[in-house]
Amino acid sequence: MMKITAHRGYSGQYPENTMLAFEKAAEAGADEIELDVQLSRDGKVVVFHDESLERLTGVGKMVMELTLDELAKLNAAKMVHGEKFGFNKIPSFEEYLAWVKKTNIVTNIELKNGRYYYEGLEEKTIELINKYGLADRVYFSSFNHVSLMKCKKLQPAIPCGALVFMPMGNAGYCVKSSGLDFYHPDMKSLNDETVASCKKHGVGINVWTIDDMPGLLKAKACGCRSVITDFPDVCKVWVGSGK
Ligand code: G3P
Ligand code: MG
Repeated sequence: MMKITAHRGYSGQYPENTMLAFEKAAEAGADEIELDVQLSRDGKVVVFHDESLERLTGVGKMVMELTLDELAKLNAAKMVHGEKFGFNKIPSFEEYLAWVKKTNIVTNIELKNGRYYYEGLEEKTIELINKYGLADRVYFSSFNHVSLMKCKKLQPAIPCGALVFMPMGNAGYCVKSSGLDFYHPDMKSLNDETVASCKKHGVGINVWTIDDMPGLLKAKACGCRSVITDFPDVCKVWVGSGK
């Protein structure tokens, strides 16, 4: 059955990449959670999407400019949700792992190192995954395919998915021959050629971001491994209905 991956947690209704959004994704029955990781100024792995803090917290600084303690004082819900959900901190990756360990959810860890390559992000993320014994319940994704190949060298058993904004010609071959495992196209990059190539080379497709019925139907027809969605509850019910 096609898996449902909650994009930045249950971000369609709750503040993205916060423990509240992750808990709500679990309640919604998501099979997997996607989140984004970066490094703070003091080299800690933190869960946050944008390189800048402006859009979500209103603070005109970059994630890499503040320490973990300073980041933890910012309200990640402020700019999008106002007071609706109160204060929601920027989680450390370790805080997330301690929580997810108690569930059976699989985590799609997106290494946010396309615009800025954080030195040591791969090593530190893998170290934490192993500290919590979660290597068999995670996979990596990134637009930075060099970083993914580095992860494969560090810990080959952790699957890696290549994120793309544009269709990659002969995607299945490219992914497989680079030693990677999954192909992560956005919806508009999902086409027949991609699907055929991935099928031929045994590469699973995790497509993003599917928030409507035509998208779900297309993902299912293409045999996608997973849909990455902002609304995991609706998608889970539909997939479970077997339609
Ligand atoms: O993993 C799919 C998606 O998260 C990639 O784009 O910008 O939402 O991290 P973005
Ligand atoms: Mg992401």
